[in-house]
Amino acid sequence: MSDTAPIEQPNWLTGGDFTAAGEPWRLFAAWLEEASRTEPNDANAMALATAEPGGLPSVRMVLMKGFDERGVVFYTNLESRKGRELGTNPQAALNFHWKSLARQVRMRGPVEPVAEGEADAYFASRARLSQIGAWASKQSAPLDSRLAFEKAIALYTARYAIGAVPRPPHWSGFRIVPLEIEFWHDRAFRLHDRIEFARAAPGEAWRKTRLYP
Ligand SMILES: Cc1cc2nc3c(=O)[nH]c(=O)nc-3n(C[C@H](O)[C@H](O)[C@H](O)COP(=O)(O)O)c2cc1C
Repeated sequence: MSDTAPIEQPNWLTGGDFTAAGEPWRLFAAWLEEASRTEPNDANAMALATAEPGGLPSVRMVLMKGFDERGVVFYTNLESRKGRELGTNPQAALNFHWKSLARQVRMRGPVEPVAEGEADAYFASRARLSQIGAWASKQSAPLDSRLAFEKAIALYTARYAIGAVPRPPHWSGFRIVPLEIEFWHDRAFRLHDRIEFARAAPGEAWRKTRLYP
């Protein structure tokens, strides 16, 4: 490189030295935005872990439907396994893995229900058949046959043939309020970069720590 070549500025927001980030949410937003351009589908898909009160964990994929400095929101059936587990043990861990970028983001912390109005607004934005499905599906309960489900769909389609479909009382959202957010980026020979932001309670300042890979 000659003396006159421009010095490249590290840009932690777009995949340069992300370990220089001073707080987690802008970095998360930048990585998510980049993933939404590079992932073939569902860049907002995340693995969500919950646990029974006794500690046995369950993990499954859900779609993140919003995030801000308060936390990360997803929607589900409150009577599903995850809904029941969060009802009795309101804490969770989540993981985004963006394969196309060789990046991972993990978060964990307490979980709170979203406000009724927030859930109503999101439900109203869904496709009508998804709204009907939320009424027809007893998510995670045993289902005798596909036909039984299709009958339930037909029944609710007829019931809500006219006007807006109301949000079912058993369907709403949760907000994971992270106390830890970790960013991981693949590097050659498994010498990956990891940084973790942690805080003692929501609203407190983040402390950043670099971790061994
Ligand atoms: C990519 C992907 C996204 C999903 N998104 C959601 C979601 O946003 N909400 C949901 O309740 N289930 C979603 N599911 C289905 C869940 O993974 C799971 O099968 C279902 O919620 C029942 O889980 P549970 O029995 O642990 O409660 C998704 C599945 C996949 C593969």
